[in-house]
Amino acid sequence: MLRVGMLTSGGDCQALNAALRGVAKTLYAKRDDVEIYGFLNGYQGMIYGKYKKLTPQDFSGILTRGGTMLGTSRTPFKELDIPTPEGIQKVPAMKQTYKELQLDALVMGGGNGSTKTANRLYEEGLNVIALPKTIDNDTWGTDYTFGFDSAIEIATKCIDDIHTTASSHGRVFVIEIMGHKVGWIPLYAGIAGGADVILLPEIPFNYDSVIKTIEERDASGHRFTIIAAAEGAITKQQAKMKKKEYKALIAQRKYSVVHEIADEIFARTGREIRVAIPGHTQRGGQPCARDRVFATQVGVEAAMGVLEGEFGFMVADKGREIVRVPMSEVAGKLKYLDPNCQLIQQARQMGISFGD
Ligand code: F6P
Repeated sequence: MLRVGMLTSGGDCQALNAALRGVAKTLYAKRDDVEIYGFLNGYQGMIYGKYKKLTPQDFSGILTRGGTMLGTSRTPFKELDIPTPEGIQKVPAMKQTYKELQLDALVMGGGNGSTKTANRLYEEGLNVIALPKTIDNDTWGTDYTFGFDSAIEIATKCIDDIHTTASSHGRVFVIEIMGHKVGWIPLYAGIAGGADVILLPEIPFNYDSVIKTIEERDASGHRFTIIAAAEGAITKQQAKMKKKEYKALIAQRKYSVVHEIADEIFARTGREIRVAIPGHTQRGGQPCARDRVFATQVGVEAAMGVLEGEFGFMVADKGREIVRVPMSEVAGKLKYLDPNCQLIQQARQMGISFGD
């Protein structure tokens, strides 16, 4: 008997179900003695022993379904050794659940923090494999994470749709794009959607530069300007702040960064300006075709790892090849954009402003 546990952890995203399906279908195809257990709501399912035994039927019809069939939650790595409100020690409890179910392996779909926890469990002796999930594409050690391409599609559609009102009314729009501390989605969606200004966490901006672009566009008869701003967009002044000081500034923000940006541009120019926030729609709905394929590949590779008895790795994409990278090398490291990467240079060459 081969007994495998599965869970999804952290923010949901498109194609999580496709990845789980890839794992399960491969295991069922290769062995006829497989039992799969799905832990509910992330690591919480392992901590509290909440799981369900899954059947091949459970993995049918889920390729196109967004979200996660198992539910998810955030279990911060830094709180791993702090007991639950009920006094349960998290790591020993997870080990106990794994042992009680006599699991041979645990497959975990998660981002940076979740992979750090997966690595801890691996170091504690569990056979763990991680799947690179997140719309943010900020996971170290892989070129792509599943969810990223779908999020780009949604954010791009939002920028496309805003264009019509922006041009009809001659307005400035600031559109907030997700991505946490990195600018992958705003960069790709900004370019795909034809944004005039793209503000990224990796390239601190100043208002003079952004306003210059708006004025130049007005002067050349364009009437409108689209600003794609990362949720982590940061001014040059803020970038000089001490980490603690900047954190405090963010903590006291009533609304998100785009309101601050719109207020400042309005104060300086009096220009008609609106904000748009696609928010969690970027994590929602059906996965795009590319994410379905990639997540399926990832799932197959994880299942092959289980069958071969190789653990402690995250499945990754390196130059569009599926590879295995040690979790210990990637866990908890953020993959930022290189501000001098070719794509940013090319965007600059065609006149897109990064506000710097
Ligand atoms: O990591 C995915 C993500 O959607 C980020 O882009 C965003 O910063 C964060 O999660 C939002 O988290 P929550 O769903 O907890 O509001």
